[in-house]
This record gives sequence, structure tokens and C-alpha cells, in this order.
Amino acid sequence: MKPNIKVFDSPELLAISFAEYFAEEVSKKSRVNIALSGGSTPKIIFQALASEYSNRIEWNKVHFYWGDERCVPPDSAESNYKMTKDFLLDEIRISETNIFRIRGEDESHKEAIRYSNEICNSVHIVNDLPCFDFIMLGLGEDGHTASIFPDRLDLFHSSKICEAVQNPLTHQNRITLTGRVINNAHAAAFFINGSQKAGIVKKIFNDSDAKEKFPAANVKLSNGTLYWYLDKASFQ
Ligand code: 6PG
Repeated sequence: MKPNIKVFDSPELLAISFAEYFAEEVSKKSRVNIALSGGSTPKIIFQALASEYSNRIEWNKVHFYWGDERCVPPDSAESNYKMTKDFLLDEIRISETNIFRIRGEDESHKEAIRYSNEICNSVHIVNDLPCFDFIMLGLGEDGHTASIFPDRLDLFHSSKICEAVQNPLTHQNRITLTGRVINNAHAAAFFINGSQKAGIVKKIFNDSDAKEKFPAANVKLSNGTLYWYLDKASFQ
């Protein structure tokens, strides 16, 4: 099936388009469970949600999870939670009970188990796996997504919900959703900005052995819709 590719003239226009889509999706549901990505790309999306859309979205319906987290304290500059708090959560009216933070400050293997249980107890189950309404995904230049790095393609066959992993370059401990949970989502999107990502995007779309090399190439929702939101600099 041809992927749903949306290419925008700028990251700002990409962000507004997604905010419009998300506002529409929330309006149709009583509860939305969304798993957020980290890194820097989501910042502009969170800013759009927190500004033009902060009063257009019924935030009490939205329950925030993370697709991955660095194993650092929540006030660390490295924390995906802190980035989200700074750019979105502190700017909208939302209850703490709607925020399901990965406790990056805790021992990673124990936290992976705790978070897996928390997800299973709060996200509805479809085909024996949690089914997020939406999963935000970033793309690393090595083809990683969430914290599934190229040395851990096995995580697309893991029976677990979350796993404790390591960034192979920095050896930073991380916790990530596994591939089967990502592929069980109702909807998901890659958000990709910048010319530095053009090379990996081209490889993922064109290399015949992309699935054997790049985790992101293994994201194929079994019963959901996968979107690609790219600015034109990343899709050349
Ligand atoms: C993380 C992310 C990771 C990120 C990509 C892209 O914790 O870093 O979840 O998967 O999405 O590395 O990062 P940028 O948006 O910073 O390019």
C-alpha cells in the first residue's frame, strides 16, 4: 500500500497541519492515548499545539505516554519528558493524571516492566497488545525510531511491551516501546525535518534491504494508518 506521505514547505506548516489533524481526531473521541516521541523535531509540533490549538483541543481527553525515554532524571536537559513539559505540558490545562511519564530516574529494567504494566492497565488491548490511538515517531540518521536502534531489530519481534536498551553510540540507557506495540497502533506518524535526514529517508523508501538495516523501515501498522510528515528539505 502506498505510504501516506505529506510534504510541507516548512516545519511550521508541517506542525500546523498535524495540529489540525490531531484536533480533529480528539474531537471525535472520548479518550485519546498518544505516545510521544522525543528528540528535537517534536518541539515545533508541541509549540503549535500549545499556541494556536491550546484552546481548540479538549486536553482532558488526551492521555500522554512516551514511545521512549532516556534514563535520566525528569529535570535533565536530555529528558524527553522535560522537553514535552517545557514545550507543551506547561502551556496547556491538563491534569497530572493524564500524564504517564517513563521514570527515567529509576533502574531501567525495572522501569521497563513497571511502564509496560502501566500501559497494559490504561491503554485498550487489541490483538493481545496495547493499541495506542496515535504514536509519534522520529527518525534518526541511522534509521532508528523511538529507541529501537539498528543493532536491535529483534525488538520488532519482542513479546514485551517495553524494553530497556542502550544507545549503541553513546551507551546511554533508554526505555522504548517495542516494535509490535508500535505496529499495533491505530495510527502513527513519522515527523521528519531538515536536509540532514534526506539521506536516510531516501534509503528507507528506496533500498530493497531497508528492513534489514533500518528499524524505521519495519514500522508497518498491522491494522492502522502510518503517515509520513516531512518538510521538503528532508524529502529531496
Ligand atoms: C529520542 C527519540 C528519537 C528521535 C530521533 C530523531 O529519544 O531521541 O525518541 O527516536 O525521535 O532520534 O531525533 P531528532 O528529532 O532530534 O532529529
